[in-house]
Amino acid sequence: MMAPSCHVRIQVIIGVVICACAQVLHAEPARPTLMPKPVQVTIAEGHFTITPATKVHYTAGDPRLVDAAEYLAGRLSLAFGKQITAAQAAGATKPDGAILLTTAGADAKLGAEGYSLTIAKSGVTIRASKAAGAFYGGITLLQLAPVAAFRAPAMVEGVLGAKPSVKPPRPCDAPNIPNAKPVSSLNVPCGSVIDKPRFQWRGLLIDPARHFWTIDELKQYIDYMALHKLNSLQIHLTDHQNWCVEVMKHPALTPEKQLNKADPKRIANQTYHKPARRYYTQKELKSLVAFAKKRFVNIVPEFEMPGHSAAFLRGCPQCGCSVDGKQMRGGEVCPGKEKTYQVLQGMLDEMLEIFPSRYIHIGADECGKRHWRKCTDCQKRMKSEGLTDVTQLHGYFVGRMSKYLQTKGRTLVGWDEILESGAKAGAIGMYWRSGRADKFVKMASANGQYLVMSPTAHCYFDYVQSPDKKSEPAGFGRSIITVKRTYELEPMPDYIKKTNPKLVLGVQANLWGERMKSFPHILYMTYPRACALSEVAWSPTKGRNYAEFHARLLKHLKRLDAAGINYRQPTAVDKPK
Ligand code: ACM
Ligand code: ZN
Repeated sequence: MMAPSCHVRIQVIIGVVICACAQVLHAEPARPTLMPKPVQVTIAEGHFTITPATKVHYTAGDPRLVDAAEYLAGRLSLAFGKQITAAQAAGATKPDGAILLTTAGADAKLGAEGYSLTIAKSGVTIRASKAAGAFYGGITLLQLAPVAAFRAPAMVEGVLGAKPSVKPPRPCDAPNIPNAKPVSSLNVPCGSVIDKPRFQWRGLLIDPARHFWTIDELKQYIDYMALHKLNSLQIHLTDHQNWCVEVMKHPALTPEKQLNKADPKRIANQTYHKPARRYYTQKELKSLVAFAKKRFVNIVPEFEMPGHSAAFLRGCPQCGCSVDGKQMRGGEVCPGKEKTYQVLQGMLDEMLEIFPSRYIHIGADECGKRHWRKCTDCQKRMKSEGLTDVTQLHGYFVGRMSKYLQTKGRTLVGWDEILESGAKAGAIGMYWRSGRADKFVKMASANGQYLVMSPTAHCYFDYVQSPDKKSEPAGFGRSIITVKRTYELEPMPDYIKKTNPKLVLGVQANLWGERMKSFPHILYMTYPRACALSEVAWSPTKGRNYAEFHARLLKHLKRLDAAGINYRQPTAVDKPK
């Protein structure tokens, strides 16, 4: 005889099954978990099944469609554990059972990065005016598929897919090693997505000058950005602690072609599993640029000048200040000497060969200017140029570098100190000093200056993510930037919105490296805040709602698990109130 308790349980299960069937029969199609949220999504009945036999086709409309198609095919290959190749189908107008990327019939109003994605039982069509849009259509398609579409090996101790050989010292140093198995098919729901980004500059900054990251680690960092439709990586290649780029004309800048001994205390033991490596060869950087290009990520190199320049001055002491020919110790780059411009511009000439970016960042922040008041050459320069204080001398230096870059077809970018010292409208100002620099940003916008918003109050990813000091790895300073705080950023000041919103190119978060200890740690600091940033940078503001975002984020994190991306697990502090 069946025990009564068992009998009751079976009834309950049957009841649940009946209920579940009723729900399935009448259910609305499930709302997809897309990150960042697109402009418009319509989900219909039915699905398309992607299998290893599904073709990824691209037409001839934009020569870079091949990059978008190959990336999509590459991710599907990882999901299936089988090689899928993209192929050109020059005149194709319909997918015919394939995934088709095409410029034909694209809506030009969606811009260079917008796209439409149509999923029918008979195939998938991604239309975009430019290849970048098709690339993002492919990312959305992957997000419409089950989480397995993000399957990829994790970066472990500097090697993709390796096994840990050392116990990570802290939980945040442990790589997020995925255990997802290859799948044989991926169902994507029928429907359509129409989408375009709110901002053209959707950036992150990484800082190998404080703690060095290998080219392979940077590549993974870029790959993860692309999965979030972030498209600009500023690399802080130089600072007091280190100059990270090989410069053929000035080998003294990288004295450690074997091992940098410039500041061993600070740099030694930088990551728990590997010895310090301190500079990138030009060849490595070119390979990084090529890798990023295939993911539609622009690398904005940053070469700090005239401040944050101790490493530069160690290699080129002749570019520092002097009194009556006697070199002063430390300080900043000397804007009085012609030699300074000759060396820095010569260095930039080499860098422009590596970095095709229209935007070249020269930092120009936090410049002490302490020697400039005494230096014979600085004083001479101020007199000859009619400059009345050292802030104007800073403006003179930035203006000269800006003009130089313009002659090479590039645009100077600098932190908001360049707005304070009077940068002209040809240069782009990057707002960082929340509260302190607002008046300079306002003035700059009145002068028609382009801006990127990166305020400390929302975008400093080196600050801790929660007040829980016990479980968070130490951050920089005492500020806390929760994922909610990042999500709440509105990059467009009202006074610019009313006058000329085009002046705000976009938004960027900065992961300064002083406290970073391992690659999993930098991912931990980046995610999930970068998910919030991606939404601020990409999605329309209408309907923005943290509770809805938070629920979506919790599901999205499963993708990061499948992709081997480490992140901070949201806690009570992140829950919507
Ligand atoms: C900065 O954080 N010094 C730009
Ligand atoms: Zn000087």
